[in-house]
Amino acid sequence: MCGRRVVVVGALAVNADLADIRLVPYPLLYDEAWQIDFPSLYKSVNHRTRAVVVVHPNNPTGSYASPAETEALNRFCSEYNLALIVDEVFLDYSIDGAPRTSFVSNDTVLTFSLSGISKVSGLPQMKVAWVAASGPTDATREALARLEVIADTYLSMNAPLQLATPVLLDQRKHLQPLLRDRIRHNLQELDRQLARQKTCTRLRVDGGWYAVLRVPALQSDEDLAIDLLRKMAVLVHPGHFYDFPSDGYLVLSLITPAAEFREGIKRVLSLLND
Ligand SMILES: Cc1ncc(COP(=O)(O)O)c(C=O)c1O
Repeated sequence: MCGRRVVVVGALAVNADLADIRLVPYPLLYDEAWQIDFPSLYKSVNHRTRAVVVVHPNNPTGSYASPAETEALNRFCSEYNLALIVDEVFLDYSIDGAPRTSFVSNDTVLTFSLSGISKVSGLPQMKVAWVAASGPTDATREALARLEVIADTYLSMNAPLQLATPVLLDQRKHLQPLLRDRIRHNLQELDRQLARQKTCTRLRVDGGWYAVLRVPALQSDEDLAIDLLRKMAVLVHPGHFYDFPSDGYLVLSLITPAAEFREGIKRVLSLLND
């Protein structure tokens, strides 16, 4: 794998380094909605590039790859003979509750769709996750044969978890409606409080567990997040954790219990409007 390039969004740097993969970030652009910056993608590709990573919906922007973007990604990957690696851990958590299309049936190019019960059933400590491979028949068969060697090398998943997986998966039916309700409720609360002031706004979110708050960049996001923690006892992530290109962004968790979320937002906005 030495020196191969994988075009990626997000902070997978350490894991990639261990596998001797060079990550090349490409931006998402925001203009009322998030979109993939295809010109950047085209500029980043070279003969060593092997795959494009897409997070669907992305964390923390909450943006799904649209049908037009999926088509453009397929064109791009076909043109440069690249695989698509799609992280779909948040797929089920659309804000409007409508199901979104998974890449598991994407057969235009070799596609690896990843998910796991960490988010699907809210059970991060169980370490149950999967890869679905799809694409042109020969390429998929070859990739699955290689994946089998890799899976064997890492040894099999432990037997208790293998046996428990159907039950753990079933828990999503109980958890997901509760979580979706909480996320929607918190988002409404955020909008209600934002409407009462003019300093901060939030960016559009279509899925996932996070909201991105646009705040005045009077200090670094890091300093602001530390101030919020020290002065207000509220924990938020500064935008630079997610490679936002400038200061002025905070990332809020929407799965916080409702009363804490309401109070937390009140404190954040009171500090920022002071
Ligand atoms: C987009 C995304 N993919 C994957 C993961 C990790 O999932 P897992 O707990 O299954 O390793 C996270 C964790 O927050 C995530 O945000």
